[in-house]
Amino acid sequence: MRNLIDIKDLSVEEINNLIEVAKDIIANREKYSHKCDGKKLATLFFEPSTRTRLSFEAAMMELGGKVLGFSEASSSSVSKGESVADTIRVVGCYSDIIVMRHPKEGAPFVAAQKSTVPIINAGDGGHNHPTQTLTDLLTIQCEKNRLDNLTIGLCGDLKFGRTVHSLITAMSRYKNIKFVLISPKELTIPEYIKKEVLDKNNIQYCETNDIEEYMGELDILYMTRVQKERFFNEADYIRLKDYYILNKEKLEKAKQDLCIMHPLPRVNEISTDVDDDKRACYFKQAEYGKFIRMALILKLLEIN
Ligand code: CP
Repeated sequence: MRNLIDIKDLSVEEINNLIEVAKDIIANREKYSHKCDGKKLATLFFEPSTRTRLSFEAAMMELGGKVLGFSEASSSSVSKGESVADTIRVVGCYSDIIVMRHPKEGAPFVAAQKSTVPIINAGDGGHNHPTQTLTDLLTIQCEKNRLDNLTIGLCGDLKFGRTVHSLITAMSRYKNIKFVLISPKELTIPEYIKKEVLDKNNIQYCETNDIEEYMGELDILYMTRVQKERFFNEADYIRLKDYYILNKEKLEKAKQDLCIMHPLPRVNEISTDVDDDKRACYFKQAEYGKFIRMALILKLLEIN
């Protein structure tokens, strides 16, 4: 039985295969509409979500399966003191696969040790968000037609932004990838990502706090929200939350085929005047998320 806790749980070959299946699903929706007949997916969300939970639910429904679950810890027996381990053992009796988001880093890993059905990490604290990364890779493949030879700007909260940590880990396995890490000094990428991922794999990167400095070199600009829920001090959040606001003027030197991405939700970091720019891919990205999650459900349920 396979789980997806960390993006490294999948080989590059497996990721490329998931992308191919997702592209086939996009092109042949009807072919997949009964693949999960009789199967149930449980969504256990101990933290808020719009895209991840609803795209997983839509993915399972489009595969012919059914969904159950909860969208906040307060509506589950966790609020009475039940452990994650016990919750998982019980929900495994009612479902064939479990998608779980939890504020504690490592909680989905612990859950997977106790589970009788596959567990998918839908985000654990400031740690990882592997299905967002699969979404991002499908978006890049579809929009740029390649996953290698790319200069990727990552902008915003690189300290707490789990989507950025997973994306760097995944993209570091492709050829000729360069990163431009754009953040205020308080929100720079964690040292362990630099040492264990970037340095270890000899990946070229530079750091700046100026969003325009390398704009003309970027193939991808991946904007992120400042993660309010991870701050210990509200004053720091208020000081940093609007540090970057991408607008048309800041894009003046950008390539015409730049792909602007954002895992969403957006707060202020991309001005709405960018939404109708042909380079804005973030709403398409959210849609791609459903298709790659369909491919992932099929893989973990071992359905061809
Ligand atoms: N991108 C993402 O994880 O969005 P949600 O928090 O809405 O699931």
